[in-house]
Amino acid sequence: MKILLLGKNGQVGWELQRSLAPLGELIALDRHSSEFCGDLANQAGLADTVRTVRPDVIVNAAAYTAVDKAESEPELASAINAHAPEVLAREAAELGAWLVHYSTDYVFGGGGDRPWCEDDPTFPLNVYGQTKLLGEHMIDWVCPRHLIFRTSWVYAARGGNFAKTMLRLAQERDQLKVINDQFGAPTGAELIADVTAHAIRQVRQPGADTQALAGIYHLVASGCTTWFDYAQYVIAQARKLQPGLAIKSTAIEPVPTSAFPTPAQRPLNSRLDTRKLQETFGLSLPEWQLGVDRMLAETITAK
Ligand SMILES: NC(=O)c1ccc[n+]([C@@H]2O[C@H](COP(=O)([O-])OP(=O)(O)OC[C@H]3O[C@@H](n4cnc5c(N)ncnc54)[C@H](OP(=O)(O)O)[C@@H]3O)[C@@H](O)[C@H]2O)c1
Repeated sequence: MKILLLGKNGQVGWELQRSLAPLGELIALDRHSSEFCGDLANQAGLADTVRTVRPDVIVNAAAYTAVDKAESEPELASAINAHAPEVLAREAAELGAWLVHYSTDYVFGGGGDRPWCEDDPTFPLNVYGQTKLLGEHMIDWVCPRHLIFRTSWVYAARGGNFAKTMLRLAQERDQLKVINDQFGAPTGAELIADVTAHAIRQVRQPGADTQALAGIYHLVASGCTTWFDYAQYVIAQARKLQPGLAIKSTAIEPVPTSAFPTPAQRPLNSRLDTRKLQETFGLSLPEWQLGVDRMLAETITAK
């Protein structure tokens, strides 16, 4: 199997380099790759890459993910999150290849407290969410063999993330305020990458029912928390892992989203129902704490 991976250096892309490697020949690109164009802003170059490489599977982990900046750069966000996926979808359809893509809980409006199912009505509150939703539609219209994984609150050991920021701030400041009215599941890039590899193996099996397997799936760790509870958990775990860690913030104050105004509005309810993914692919998604514990152990013991 030949796999073309785009966005190889993002949180998810980095982990995909590991999880996809055993499946076959992996051609992994980022926007600066020289042998083939991996720049999602260059639609002609992207199409050329697919036509030259002729992959069996395209995995697109590249995206415009600067949620607040997208409010002032809607064209660029659309180009990367909607029009580039459309190009990939057309080229994949032409080849009969699978296209694997990632989307977000931000396609939903964030009301209520029930986990969103895949076919619930969408209502993005910000430009990022609108462009990601358009990307989903383009793929769905153009490429029958697609897997779109909607995820949320992604973190990875590599690069910056909420947990690492909380740890740093807790060491620097006497007091911390953290939002306590947004609900979701922190999800490790490792988990997303491993599930992706598992799903690709299944859809590529001889005799697999393409029509039954293609579609949108919610892919997040199990359980639910708020940013506030997540921050408390991170600091408590860090203390266990390294009892001498100089943490100044003994008390974290829970605050509403309105305490931190941002250009882009965020949904309050980011819970995603993952039953479809678990049942279709025979998976059991671990509780969110499992991956966070691993990431903290890697981060803290690596210091
Ligand atoms: N992060 C989250 O909390 C979250 C939540 C829900 C869904 N998602 C979705 O999950 C997927 C993976 O996200 P992630 O967390 O891995 O994001 P990430 O760490 O921000 O990685 C995105 C990657 O896309 C690349 N990229 C941006 N513009 C590009 C372009 N024009 N051409 C080629 N590459 C480009 C970036 O490269 P540079 O580093 O060079 O800019 C970066 O490596 C995305 O589809 C995202 O929308 C993420």
